Amino acid sequence: MKRLSIDIGTRTVVGICSEFQGDRIKVSQVFTVEHAERAMLDGAIHDIEKVAEVVRKVKGEIESRAGEKFKSADVALAGRFLQTVIGEAALRLDRLTEITSQTVKHLEAMATKEAVAKLQSEREMYCVGYSPLFYTVDGEWIKNPVGHRASEVYVKVMATFLPRHIVDSMVLALKRADLHVGHLTLEPIAVLELLVPQDLRLLNLVILDVGAGTSDIAISKDGMVIGYAMIPNAGDEITEEICKNHLLDFQTAETVKRKLAQEAVITAKDILGFETEFRSEELIREIEPVVDNITEEIAERIVSLNGRPPAAVLVVGGGAKVPGFTERLALKLDLP
Ligand SMILES: Nc1ncnc2c1ncn2[C@@H]1O[C@H](COP(=O)(O)OP(=O)(O)OP(=O)(O)O)[C@@H](O)[C@H]1O
Ligand SMILES: [Mg+2]
Repeated sequence: MKRLSIDIGTRTVVGICSEFQGDRIKVSQVFTVEHAERAMLDGAIHDIEKVAEVVRKVKGEIESRAGEKFKSADVALAGRFLQTVIGEAALRLDRLTEITSQTVKHLEAMATKEAVAKLQSEREMYCVGYSPLFYTVDGEWIKNPVGHRASEVYVKVMATFLPRHIVDSMVLALKRADLHVGHLTLEPIAVLELLVPQDLRLLNLVILDVGAGTSDIAISKDGMVIGYAMIPNAGDEITEEICKNHLLDFQTAETVKRKLAQEAVITAKDILGFETEFRSEELIREIEPVVDNITEEIAERIVSLNGRPPAAVLVVGGGAKVPGFTERLALKLDLP
């Protein structure tokens, strides 16, 4: 069965048509549309109708390419209001029977429920996902308890929450595009599960998604996900610096920024209508302090979550394509 998945980003909305083939996922279509206006800020939807319009476009194109209609879409949420809470649970078991995947699911649900109960927030929050941090059977750490026999099995999970209105606005934008929410998860969870196979998670890796509105961090270590964090600074902040310095509107500054790596001289019209020539080299120097700030914040957060610099950082997302971004981050984390 084909599924539609949509990533509603601050700058771009990406639709993906995929299906399971055994335990592999085959992606048959990918279609990307950019928001014409800034309908989203820092990963949160500000203008529902404008976002719905883009979602309709993505849905329509994927449907006509795939030759199939979709009623629901799978989405991943992120954004600056993400909150995580640790939950735990233990189950007494009969030593004679094997632990089934159902038992483990049940245990994880109990732990998540415990996290929900512990959550402290002034706002109404939705639990949008969880990931198991580790399991023990009879007090011993184990990667996967399924199939083991024990008198007690225990799990620690990280449950993730978003304010209700963030989730609602996503659901409403989809609804206006005639879509229900199929599967809902969190960006860092989805990225980690897809990009880092279980065995690589043993390494101390960081996955960093630098988007337009937010930079999202997920850290793996000893086979588990040890932390997520989000910084509400990313590509938009760099674009805004160019806007500010040269009286360019946001879209023009975006175009200029994306040419920095390719062209030595870029021409653009400012908001007064004057055609100006920019030397990429100079612009790159100008945005350096902003890139420096963002990478500094990211590096600090990684080190505080992880305790020390990680073995490697996998960088995804468009925001990091600006010249010098990854180099600067590597420098701050003492990575080659
Ligand atoms: N070639 C490029 N050079 C520099 N920046 C680029 C380039 N291409 C894209 N970007 C920047 O990448 C950002 C968009 O990246 P992406 O599509 O990953 O974000 P998003 O998913 O829409 O946002 P978010 O994840 O924050 O919600 C924008 O800031 C854009 O200017
Ligand atoms: Mg994104």
